Amino acid sequence: MTKQAWKPGAPALETLSFTVRLRRGGPWRPLRHRWQNFAVTVPADYTVVELLESIKGHQDPSLAFRHSCHHGSCGTCAMKVNGLERLTCVTTVADVVKEGGHLEVEPLGHLPWVSDLVADAAPLFDNLEALGPGHVRMNGIFAGCIECGACISACPIGGPRSGYVGPAPLAAARDALVTGQAPGLGWGLLLERVDGNHGVWQCHTAFECSRACPADVDPAGAIIQLRQLLASGQAKSLAGLAMSRGSAAIGAPAAGPAPAGGAPHDHRPRREGGEGW
Ligand code: SF4
Ligand code: FES
Repeated sequence: MTKQAWKPGAPALETLSFTVRLRRGGPWRPLRHRWQNFAVTVPADYTVVELLESIKGHQDPSLAFRHSCHHGSCGTCAMKVNGLERLTCVTTVADVVKEGGHLEVEPLGHLPWVSDLVADAAPLFDNLEALGPGHVRMNGIFAGCIECGACISACPIGGPRSGYVGPAPLAAARDALVTGQAPGLGWGLLLERVDGNHGVWQCHTAFECSRACPADVDPAGAIIQLRQLLASGQAKSLAGLAMSRGSAAIGAPAAGPAPAGGAPHDHRPRREGGEGW
């Protein structure tokens, strides 16, 4: 269905009037940590990214935010909305405007802050490329991951700057092991990093990453499975098997031993009320 074009001031079937609080500025002084309020009236079925476009178009053209596909598949538009990570292109304002009428949007946490609502996902991309199966960045996505960074932001351990490898890269490492596709760093360094101080054992199994993930990757479940593979010695066996095949198998699943724990299991706590991305 094509959405009706709408401008502030024009009549609409159903509109919402509320205050939007946006994080502004960037990691430079003196604008750091500035919040700015905007009074808006928009159609109730506007998405959050459409709301931001409306503010940029009609109130402040300097507002910076990232968006691309507008249908939930590229991961570019992930931000924190009222404190929770969301794909803003598929979240309607009606879903998230709080009672009493306000809405707060800020960039993803635990990633370098660039400007306004923009966080730099480069550390996530680097870790995915290092640990992911078969040059994940060139071959496309692993296990449905859209590389949005929501899991990094939601993780209570902290982001790449804390040293922690992070939920999506650990899920990618699990996929490399169970499919036998060589990771960017190679098998030795993969095992070293996932089993090291900043690998799977640093995770507190808070499940916040899986709660935040809009793509059903279930990074927390992958981390649990990776722990099982490491503790049972099967991780080394799988890596050794892939190496003995020359990891030729970029793009082709290895017929190795079944990983401990079997197929990835969905451990996620579920949202109530069918609140969707
Ligand atoms: S695992 Fe999920 S939340 Fe994390 S980057 Fe991939 S799609 Fe986004
Ligand atoms: S703009 Fe692509 S997922 Fe939102």
